[in-house]
Amino acid sequence: DGSKLWGGRFVGDTDPIMEKFNASIAYDKRMWDADIRGSKAYAKALEKAKLVTAEEKDNILHGMDQIHDEWAKGVFEVKPGDEDIHTANERRLKELIGEPAGKLHTGRSRNDQVVTDMRLWLRDAISILKGNALQLITTMVERAAVEIDVLFPGYTHMQRAQPIRWSHWILSHAVALSRDVEQLQEINRRVNVLPLGSGAIAGTPFNIDREMLRQELAFDDISINSMDATGQRDFIAEFLFWASLCLTHLSKMAEDLMLYSTKEFSFLTLSDAYSTGSSLMPQKKNADSLELIRSKAGRVFGRCAGFLMTLKGLPSTYNKDLQEDKEAMFDCFDTVHAVLQVTTGVVSTLKINPSVMEAALSPDMLATDLAYYLVRKGVPFRDAHGISGKAVFLAESKSIPLNQLTVEDLRTASPLFSSDVSAVWDYSSSVEQYSAPGGTAKSSVAAQVEHMRTWLKKQ
Ligand code: ARG
Repeated sequence: DGSKLWGGRFVGDTDPIMEKFNASIAYDKRMWDADIRGSKAYAKALEKAKLVTAEEKDNILHGMDQIHDEWAKGVFEVKPGDEDIHTANERRLKELIGEPAGKLHTGRSRNDQVVTDMRLWLRDAISILKGNALQLITTMVERAAVEIDVLFPGYTHMQRAQPIRWSHWILSHAVALSRDVEQLQEINRRVNVLPLGSGAIAGTPFNIDREMLRQELAFDDISINSMDATGQRDFIAEFLFWASLCLTHLSKMAEDLMLYSTKEFSFLTLSDAYSTGSSLMPQKKNADSLELIRSKAGRVFGRCAGFLMTLKGLPSTYNKDLQEDKEAMFDCFDTVHAVLQVTTGVVSTLKINPSVMEAALSPDMLATDLAYYLVRKGVPFRDAHGISGKAVFLAESKSIPLNQLTVEDLRTASPLFSSDVSAVWDYSSSVEQYSAPGGTAKSSVAAQVEHMRTWLKKQ
């Protein structure tokens, strides 16, 4: 199979089914720009090492620029023998500039080339995702600032728990997303390391200036060990896990919003722009955007788990199994990229229904406050909890709301109740108790908004 880059020692042709099975060009062509950037930098290092002349280097650079143009214009022609983006670009370079193209791969292997391309591509992808996430967080924080006065029921175990601010709910999700952004930056430190100059496994025997390559390609560091550099894909696994955790956060938020948008809750209405109808039931308005946001988490987990299984038990250095890293990376990028943008759209266009949200509060959600009333009169919390629980039971057995119990009723549970207990039955003053940092009082939620605004400015 002499037509191939590696064809020298072969006499027989590749089986056509194997040819297709082996090829990655269908998807790794997405890295065309990274591949060209890497090759241009490498040509310069070859010149410095006196492995190509200045003229040969210029020819390679011009050829690569021409190939860049062809990809950018969408006219690059992938030919049947092009196994992957690396062979395609090199094949084209040979067609364009002839002889010196054969010198470009001196001391380089597709093993250090592919992982250089991946790192260049992922670095750009990370910066795009960071921008998307920051936009979503900004939308949420500003919405929280505007709607800070709206109260609604908070739930634990999906049971009515305590009154909270709507903004407190929004910020709870924004804060989780801010950790996703920080984690993404942390991952980027390990992504942004130059592997080029590692060869296939052993390193480079030529005077390839790796520090120069690092500068040319704007990496922060150079890899320490050539076997590690060519054979590890932990940086991909980290990215896939990051995508999984980020979409876990968003699926939780989507699930809440879906519930709140049902007719039964009616806390909010999704914009038509992010809803769809039923082909059969004319009245339907389905929250398809939220359902898809929720579902994409499963897709991304699958990519992460699947790729970890591919990695498990692999022997050292490059094995073709590693080619499987690309579809996982691209798919997780595309998925999170879309989810973040759609979520921003959903959150910025939904309309809340404050009167319904506040009307959904009920006195039983103040049973904790009733216990705190006794705590403020010196009752140990554990006892106060029991007394308030008795009051709840009493109200339930009388089929009346908790705040309709008379002081006499309450006194059957504790003699410490007096007429000032009426102050407990106020949702606004209830939430205002929670003024310690992190709580749902207005001052505390406003401080959270400020905290997040400051954090956003630093990103
Ligand atoms: N297409 C291959 C990949 O994606 C490039 C590296 C191939 N290296 C090799 N020695 N066969 O991993």
